[in-house]
Amino acid sequence: MSDIDNENNCGTPAVAPSPIQQELAAGLLADKATTSPKYFYDAVGSVLFEAICVLPEYYPTRTEASIISEYLSDIAHAIGPGGTLIDLGAGNCAKAARLFPQLHPDQYVPIDISVDHLREAVGRLQQRFPHIEMTALGIDFSQDWSLPSEVRNERRLFFYPGSSIGNFEPEMALAFLKQLRVLCGNGGGILIGIDLIKEHAVLNAAYDDDLGVTAAFNLNVLRHINQQLGTDFDVHQWQHRAFFNADKSRIEMHLEARSEMTIRWPGEHRHFIRGERIHTENSYKYSLDSFLALLNAAGFGQSRHWTDDAGWFAVVYAKAI
Ligand code: AVJ
Repeated sequence: MSDIDNENNCGTPAVAPSPIQQELAAGLLADKATTSPKYFYDAVGSVLFEAICVLPEYYPTRTEASIISEYLSDIAHAIGPGGTLIDLGAGNCAKAARLFPQLHPDQYVPIDISVDHLREAVGRLQQRFPHIEMTALGIDFSQDWSLPSEVRNERRLFFYPGSSIGNFEPEMALAFLKQLRVLCGNGGGILIGIDLIKEHAVLNAAYDDDLGVTAAFNLNVLRHINQQLGTDFDVHQWQHRAFFNADKSRIEMHLEARSEMTIRWPGEHRHFIRGERIHTENSYKYSLDSFLALLNAAGFGQSRHWTDDAGWFAVVYAKAI
């Protein structure tokens, strides 16, 4: 179908917008334009995120990995063997795979937004760990979600590494943890990575690296929106901005218009003045105490935590109580 077929002569779309298109359009038309961070992760964005994870400035991934490798036997002992390991945002499943040799889950349930991306990684893992039952699921847990009956009920452990919970507003983080608590049933728990509040220069550098990889990651969302919504964003007209907002205890990422412009897509448009921003991500940072309080409010307790020497990152285990 050509572009012309998709429009009537009023310039409005002839085909009803999809839920994704509606969500993107609503964000762009909001008084303060926003996009959800889930739109970062198209094919290019996913590779750029992997590159971010090995940048010298981006400490979370390597700090979490070093905490887990240093304390793995202690962590596994606190959790106990067996049960079902539910991996939220599993990606290539590498983080969870590092737990297997000590944790020995009976069942492994990797979840990601697209089940297709999981299949290859799970296929390979299944060969290395033939005795673990593996059930890959494609779920967008920024929407309402539930677990199918293939997921065993007893001793569910939710694994949520990488400080991904930082993308949620604190109220949404609480609601999400409460939902995990319900899904845990009895005898379950959570193993979660938390990025801690630290010197602002360290935080700022992690989201505004010298090489510009995070800038490319942020700008790439415009190319993804062009594909999804048919907007005419020119990435050269936008600038990466990332900074720690101490009042809200969060890194904010924005894209800032370098000049005045109008962005058009089928049936709609949005005017931006020079310097106006699209808010693309929040990444909340917690103190250990504030996060433990959040876990408590969600119905988790008897927590254990492990941190690096600098106290930059924490891995927390808590039981459903
Ligand atoms: C995947 C949400 C944990 O907030 O640090 C990295 C995403 N954004 N650099 C984070 C991200 C910019 C990352 N999380």
